[in-house]
Amino acid sequence: MEIEDVRSDLTEVLYTADQIEERIRQIAAEIDHDYAGLDLLLIGVLNGAVMTMADLSRALRSHCEMQWMAISSYGSGTASSGVVRILKDLNIDITDRHVLLVEDIIDTGLTLSYLVQNLKNRHPASVEVMAAFRKAEAIKRPVDVRYVGFDIPSDFVVGYGLDYDGRYRNLNGLGILAPAVYS
Ligand code: PRP
Repeated sequence: MEIEDVRSDLTEVLYTADQIEERIRQIAAEIDHDYAGLDLLLIGVLNGAVMTMADLSRALRSHCEMQWMAISSYGSGTASSGVVRILKDLNIDITDRHVLLVEDIIDTGLTLSYLVQNLKNRHPASVEVMAAFRKAEAIKRPVDVRYVGFDIPSDFVVGYGLDYDGRYRNLNGLGILAPAVYS
């Protein structure tokens, strides 16, 4: 889905598909450099990180393994509940692995804070985080994020994996959802 298809639902277009693709490519090059010679394991957080994972992994010039976790933090509304629950866990042992957690967005940081600690408890060689978007002002629990695509305002954003009530995930850019759509 293109920005033009839902332009009237958005108050602002933050990033186009081309801008996101370019930034993801830059980050992939950094990751290729930083993990040269290491066996990289990408862990994506469903559902939102599907687009980020697909684009990041394909932009890498080196091998990586991909795994997925599903976490519940939001309901169907627009605010973080702070409740974190594992809905789908990894099906491999990550002991001594170099883990890069792949997220679409860091909003309050609650999900990330929980996940990073949960993964560290499994004794990997390293755990780092890549997030396509970060709401810098909204982070309640600062977690070290090694790779950030874009720092964005605290508005309700949709697209590139981010949904409102299940919709807009397949929008190829990122935009601010008009309050009229969710109020
Ligand atoms: C979103 C996003 C992160 C989390 C970030 O997931 O993918 O995992 O919220 O929010 P936080 O920093 O406030 O914890 P969500 O729970 O909406 O599920 P989804 O990926 O399936 O949409």
